[in-house]
Amino acid sequence: ATIEKGGYDHFMIKEIFEQPRSIADSMRGRLIASEGHLQLGGLENYMNKLAQADRIVIVACGTSWHAGLVAEYLFEELARINVEVEYASEFRYRNPVIGENDVVIAISQSGETADTLAAIELAKSKGATIFGVCNVVGSSIARATHAGAYTHAGPEIGVASTKAFTAQVTVLTQMAIAVARRKGALTEDTYRQLLIELETIPTKVQQVFEYADKIKEIAFIFTYARNFIYLGRGLNFPVALEGALKLKEISYIHAEGYPAAEMKHGPIALIDEDMPVVFLATKDGSYDKIVSNIQEVKARKGRVIAIITQGDTRIPGMVDFVIEVPQVHELLTPLVSVIPLQLLSYYIAVMRGRNVDQPRNLAKSVTVE
Ligand code: G6P
Repeated sequence: ATIEKGGYDHFMIKEIFEQPRSIADSMRGRLIASEGHLQLGGLENYMNKLAQADRIVIVACGTSWHAGLVAEYLFEELARINVEVEYASEFRYRNPVIGENDVVIAISQSGETADTLAAIELAKSKGATIFGVCNVVGSSIARATHAGAYTHAGPEIGVASTKAFTAQVTVLTQMAIAVARRKGALTEDTYRQLLIELETIPTKVQQVFEYADKIKEIAFIFTYARNFIYLGRGLNFPVALEGALKLKEISYIHAEGYPAAEMKHGPIALIDEDMPVVFLATKDGSYDKIVSNIQEVKARKGRVIAIITQGDTRIPGMVDFVIEVPQVHELLTPLVSVIPLQLLSYYIAVMRGRNVDQPRNLAKSVTVE
């Protein structure tokens, strides 16, 4: 079994450390920055359909739904297409308004999630065009869609999704850039710059691993915390949700992810010296706002762990712990900022003696509703 795990103790940590490769695999043959080349083969014949869509509806569950929230920001920002992100289980039961001018993107690692499959069938019956972003080749969802792009992350064994998430975000980012380009919404310069920046992501993710020991030390300090709050804004809001989900799934610690500005409408009441708060506080358009949110938590004696951009000199003096991630293009932030959260949840779960790869009550693929 250790051989299968490539010498690691668990599949989850093997898969976390595989991400520089799996992210690169999601771009292989698709993106060549030096040539200004970006093409998703499986979607090529449908790119005009996507570019002309009135609206994109993303359907997914769990971690894949979080990848969908990241994609919402990207499609809206880059391609100026209106996007809605739906839990497949809600969408399918509420007589949704959807028709021939809508494009649905179904995101699923396994390609077998029953609710996502049912959402696809419903949208299809109303005339929408359906694209899939799946990891498992030939899976039910991949077969039910009109076209799609595989994530090529390789088999994911750990129940808590890690490398599939970053591969999904990588593929969706490429889709958003390609459709923006097709729509003429990007200048040649911006387009080229995005491709160059995306191509550097595997190296940047590798650099985050240099902080693994520091993250382990933080995990040790918070091993027996009973609650956690994760806060982020913009593209880091879905990352906060994903960080909280990872911790819940494998350590069984109650955790909530929230948009940082919404904290004052409720979760701030929970903050005291026993409440660890993880802030996604990278240098982006929300930076100053996040700094104020950190001050609000510190004023109430919350214990703050901040994910910051390398070289940030302001936040380290304000918080209890920092974990640095390399500077990346603002739109690509989730691909690096999620990595320390995966590691933090992994180390806490191991220190608590949990069954990391097969947490209680959870299934890798949920084929019943
Ligand atoms: C299950 C898994 C999650 C996953 C979700 C959606 O709950 O435990 O890791 O995110 O299903 O699965 P899918 O295969 O559709 O991405």
